[in-house]
Amino acid sequence: MRVAAPVLLAPVLLLGLAVSASADDKVRTNYLFGCRGCHLADGRGVPPDVPTLRDTLGEIVARPGGREYLVRVPGVLQSRLDDAALAEVLNYILTEFNADTLPRDFKPYSAREVARARQNILADPQKYRQALLESSALE
Ligand code: HEC
Repeated sequence: MRVAAPVLLAPVLLLGLAVSASADDKVRTNYLFGCRGCHLADGRGVPPDVPTLRDTLGEIVARPGGREYLVRVPGVLQSRLDDAALAEVLNYILTEFNADTLPRDFKPYSAREVARARQNILADPQKYRQALLESSALE
């Protein structure tokens, strides 16, 4: 029976791969559905009108208020995606497009955190962003 283990395990492993691939597909589809129109499929945006989502967000999430800021920009807050899907999309853009700049202790967004931050839209996102990046208190 020594040969049996790999034979039995193979389908289980394949199933695991299929499940995780479809979860990734769902997030990617939600990103494309909700964000690509402005930020493009690869997140590079159309500067200066639409900011890039690549390699610039790690610095923002590291700042006080930065995590909330990413939820409170109008394009995110007013998205038709629900809180859980938005949390996944934010985690996706952070880990896919900002892996090199993400703080080591980055904790993924939860639906609850998104729901809370989503209650307060930013009146002037660009001004807020600037103030955020100028604040010297890096935590
Ligand atoms: C209608 C166009 C539009 C859509 C759709 C859109 N955004 Fe944006 N996004 C913008 C613009 C423009 C800004 C700059 C801030 C502002 O003026 O609102 C921005 C800012 C951001 C920022 C802050 C970036 C920074 O460097 O400060 C993030 C993060 C972001 N968007 C993520 C998303 C995600 C995730 C989605 C999909 C759920 C999305 N956006 C959908 C236009 C859009």
